[in-house]
Amino acid sequence: MNDLHAFAQQQRERILNELFALLKIPSISTDPTHDPDCRRAANWVADHLKALGCPRVELLASESHPVVWAEGPNLPGKPTVLVYGHYDVQPADPLELWDSPPFEPTVRDGNLYARGATDDKGQVFAVIKAFEAVSGGGRPPVNLRFLIEGQEESGSKVLFDLLEREPERVEADAVLVSDTGYFAPGWPALEVGLRGLCAAEITVRVLKGDLHSGLYGGAAPNAHETLVQLLARLKTPDGKIHIPGLYDAVRRPSAAERAGWKKLPFNQRAFQRDEVGAKALTGLRQYSTLERIWALPTFEIHGIVGGFTGEGTKTVIPAVATAKVTLRLVPNQETKAVARQLTAAVKKLAPKWADVSVKIMHGADPVLVDTSTTPFKLIDQAFRDVERRGVVPTRSGGSIPVVPALGKRGAPVVLAGIGLPDDRLHAPNEKIGVEQVFKGIRVFGRFFQLMGGA
Ligand code: BES
Ligand code: MN
Ligand code: MN
Repeated sequence: MNDLHAFAQQQRERILNELFALLKIPSISTDPTHDPDCRRAANWVADHLKALGCPRVELLASESHPVVWAEGPNLPGKPTVLVYGHYDVQPADPLELWDSPPFEPTVRDGNLYARGATDDKGQVFAVIKAFEAVSGGGRPPVNLRFLIEGQEESGSKVLFDLLEREPERVEADAVLVSDTGYFAPGWPALEVGLRGLCAAEITVRVLKGDLHSGLYGGAAPNAHETLVQLLARLKTPDGKIHIPGLYDAVRRPSAAERAGWKKLPFNQRAFQRDEVGAKALTGLRQYSTLERIWALPTFEIHGIVGGFTGEGTKTVIPAVATAKVTLRLVPNQETKAVARQLTAAVKKLAPKWADVSVKIMHGADPVLVDTSTTPFKLIDQAFRDVERRGVVPTRSGGSIPVVPALGKRGAPVVLAGIGLPDDRLHAPNEKIGVEQVFKGIRVFGRFFQLMGGA
């Protein structure tokens, strides 16, 4: 315990400099021009784990976005903790909105700003440093395995294929995932559930080619008009999604779970004004805000492609329009079923003048974890020891595609991250609190000690 505190104190400068090096690599997995950077980030993680004394470190599926696999020293009779995280990051644009460049990590007012600072490099790094902190003399208190991937932000295809071939990779007594956050400063959270995802592109074609809007407007169908009318019928202003069957599988959180959420330090007005930054919240009125963002499905339009959006005016009727959309899914919805329901709903809403197609891009199933087993008591204890407050059970509306697969062999999946609500993940000026990193090192180090029977 005290050793962990001393480690974090004494090695501060060196530890931060190491994290800077990792954050400088622009490992954007959704952009193929950054494939070499993803490889560099994978190598950074692998080399680091080797230097910390992992006897076995491998880059798996290394054609693209290699999965880093490592095992710590073998300790017969001790339990095994599998650590999952990701070294890939989201694109950084719009670049002009960053106060310091996204891949030049900068500390301001106790925060470390960089793309990937909280999602997920800073958190993966804290777990790795925790392993270093408890490995004095080359002997950590538990058996450790690391599974650090580079495609989380683009659907984890490589890792899914790998686990399909080698399911024994996830055999462990507990899986630790640090890719989420506290509920509020000083309030560590244990995520009981994550939402899933179904990403799709809806394309509408109504003409052989674009037309002069003066000569044909009034008689010719318009692709953008057709698409937005269709989208407006898929979700109405009351927040209801009109996809037949969509809500059938939705399992409402128990009264006890919802009662627990009522006790969380949640300020609806601050959430709306400061975190969301909107004049009002939208969505299904009959449910609480937390239930709406944690336990109900969503339908979002991310962008509409096509037509004319350049400088000036162009009087044209567009022939084709595409909307990029996603649905968030909740227990017990299934990605495959929802993809079918969405496709059927879109086809049914298509007017007779339109050819409509739905292309399913990628998906993630929702998760709900049973938190009654020992590893959850121990992560709670670890937070109590370091933060002086145990974890509050929450859910998150975000998705981590591979989490359901990590639990398939029965290991409890502990989703306990060190981010804060204002970390701005995926957005400009993403950051992590410097103290959160050092707290993370101590908490995860303590968790490893407790798992090892300390
Ligand atoms: N770490 C996030 C998800 C997250 C953040 C969960 C905070 C809980 C709390 C993850 O990296 C992420 O962004 N996932 C994507 C998945 C998608 C691109 C397949 C998401 O949720 O949009
Ligand atoms: Mn993440
Ligand atoms: Mn992310």
